[in-house]
Amino acid sequence: MVNGRKTILLVDDNETNLAAGKTMLKEQYKVYPIPSAEIMFDIMENVEADLILLDIDMPDMNGYEAIRKLKADDHTRDIPVIFLTAMNGEGDELEGLSLGAIDYVTKPFSAPLLLKRIENHLDAVLQRRELRDFNEHLEDLVKEKTIQIMALQNAVLGTVANLVEFRDGVTGGHIERTEGYLELLVQKMRDDGVYSNEMDGWDLDYLIASAKLHDVGKIGISDLILNKPGKLTEEEFEVMKQHPEIGVKAIKEIEKDAPDHKFLQHAARIAGSHHEKWDGSGYPYGLKGDDIPLEGRLMAIADVYDALISARPYKRPFKTEEAKAIIEEGSGSHFDPALIDVFRLVAEDFANVARRISY
Ligand SMILES: [Fe+2]
Repeated sequence: MVNGRKTILLVDDNETNLAAGKTMLKEQYKVYPIPSAEIMFDIMENVEADLILLDIDMPDMNGYEAIRKLKADDHTRDIPVIFLTAMNGEGDELEGLSLGAIDYVTKPFSAPLLLKRIENHLDAVLQRRELRDFNEHLEDLVKEKTIQIMALQNAVLGTVANLVEFRDGVTGGHIERTEGYLELLVQKMRDDGVYSNEMDGWDLDYLIASAKLHDVGKIGISDLILNKPGKLTEEEFEVMKQHPEIGVKAIKEIEKDAPDHKFLQHAARIAGSHHEKWDGSGYPYGLKGDDIPLEGRLMAIADVYDALISARPYKRPFKTEEAKAIIEEGSGSHFDPALIDVFRLVAEDFANVARRISY
């Protein structure tokens, strides 16, 4: 476009047509009369065209070949092309349109008709461009809003999870650390192709974030049991063992308002099965082996590791090497042996998370 005027390439091997066309268009447009398609491509190296008027019947490269070349190139495919045709066969026009021309004008053309057609097509291009810009803006807006909603969701759930943690008297950082351990395990699994079928379709961001709700069911457990300084009696432990099922119930309640949400699906499986054990001796259902959801098997490692390295009223914090050894000892009894193989590879990173997040 030059000085606000649109640029039109008029391509025709007939000099009379070029001269007539230029006279018709030059008042409103910057016009390049061009005698062949080859020269048109040369000129287009330096000139940005808004629209091309293209003769079909030309020696060497004809209009069909020229439009194929234009449409094959990312830089030129969106430039509207109007065919100029002296022929009266419907097939020629149809072929031109099917190759991507937006219109055709039969020669000899009348000035008002040609000008009106050009104006209409340039308007349409402008409208398409505005629509595309609007859609792009809309996409950005949706992305931005999604990020905001995710951040809010994480913040609210983080607060809920922290409230549970504070009631529990568990030292700070448990939730943040268990998320960190989980991330290490699933990333290593993904890299090494461990349980890749089972993880197919998982959203790892959701999975890791959902871990913060693993103990949300403790909200339904009495303070007297949660805060008891010392080991629980058998009866008290039976009450404590209800927290996975209470957690699942609470998450299922949220699911009523947000059905089929991956975050909540992961969260429910983690909350419900993180105390199951590989050999079937865990709770609440005594599930065994791979009947235990993979999320729960993973969370069990993260949860127990963190309990081991943390101080409790009834125990000292274990060193990270001791915790590693205890977890490894549980392979095949408490934990899934395939996951312990993964844990072994990232145990040093577990220790780093433990050091980094300690309050
Ligand atoms: Fe728990």
